[in-house]
Amino acid sequence: MQRIVYLDGQYINENDAKISIFDRGFLFGDAVYEVTAVINGKLIENEGHMLRLQRSCSELQIALPVTVEEITSIQEELIKSNQLDEGGIYLQISRGSAGDRDFGYPGADVKPTLVLFTQARDLLNSPKATKGIKVITTEDIRWKRRDIKTVGLLAPCMAKQGALDKHVDDAWLVEDGYITEGSSNNAYIVTTEGVLVTRPLSNDILHGITRKALLELAEKEKIKIEERLFTAEEAYQANEAFVSSATTFVWPVIEIDGKKIGSGKPGTVAMKLREIYIELATQTAELKDGSKPFNKERLDTQRLAI
Ligand code: PDD
Repeated sequence: MQRIVYLDGQYINENDAKISIFDRGFLFGDAVYEVTAVINGKLIENEGHMLRLQRSCSELQIALPVTVEEITSIQEELIKSNQLDEGGIYLQISRGSAGDRDFGYPGADVKPTLVLFTQARDLLNSPKATKGIKVITTEDIRWKRRDIKTVGLLAPCMAKQGALDKHVDDAWLVEDGYITEGSSNNAYIVTTEGVLVTRPLSNDILHGITRKALLELAEKEKIKIEERLFTAEEAYQANEAFVSSATTFVWPVIEIDGKKIGSGKPGTVAMKLREIYIELATQTAELKDGSKPFNKERLDTQRLAI
């Protein structure tokens, strides 16, 4: 079945959605994006994603083609028309098409291109959440503005494919000897003293919406947090490691560069944070729009799986 997607004011079948070959997203990677998780047909932490979208656009002087409220209505319409229960909504805004290829930004008469589509995915019961993932470290060859969520993602694609070619799940990126983040997630370790360590916010990493929520939850759980640089060697010695993102929530990392982390099983801190994050995120989503009941059964299954 074809999805209904959104393109510049129109809801159309995915096969009918066409954009210009001169679109700057296509020619220059001149576009920003966001991915919002959906559970039980509800958007998770969408306000945070919309704030970051506005920031990415403002850093690149891309004008939002519609208001944030309109974007949220489009997201909700797509959830309905595609009957999306669980998965994500991808949103992309490119600087649009000036009808030719030219490096300088076009004038205000060129309207940005807005695209949204849904992706059905099993987020709550993903085997990677219960079994954990294996990663390798690789050099971080990305540009210097990783705080802007642009579609210029070839370096992370290369890192991810490099990991898949080595039969592991993902890559942790290393710059000047320190881990920056995963190919499409933020990276954490828990030391043998039980301290949660993750890289501080800067232009070196994406300011994860899930990261922010997790750190707040960890603080409430009285887990000691250190936002500081850490090396792969420190990670090898850690009790636990894990990643976070909108589509993984929290996935434990059980092996780095072939070395078992802790017991080689998903860590208790990672799994606890995953559980309370999902519970909170789902409840918050429900409170904002109480039309669909909170699927408690599904969360209980998740807890059992832990
Ligand atoms: N990736 N770091 C990078 C490089 C990312 O691409 C992502 C998200 C994150 C986590 O951010 P958040 O918690 O806001 O999702 C960190 C998305 C999911 C993607 O590219 O599909």
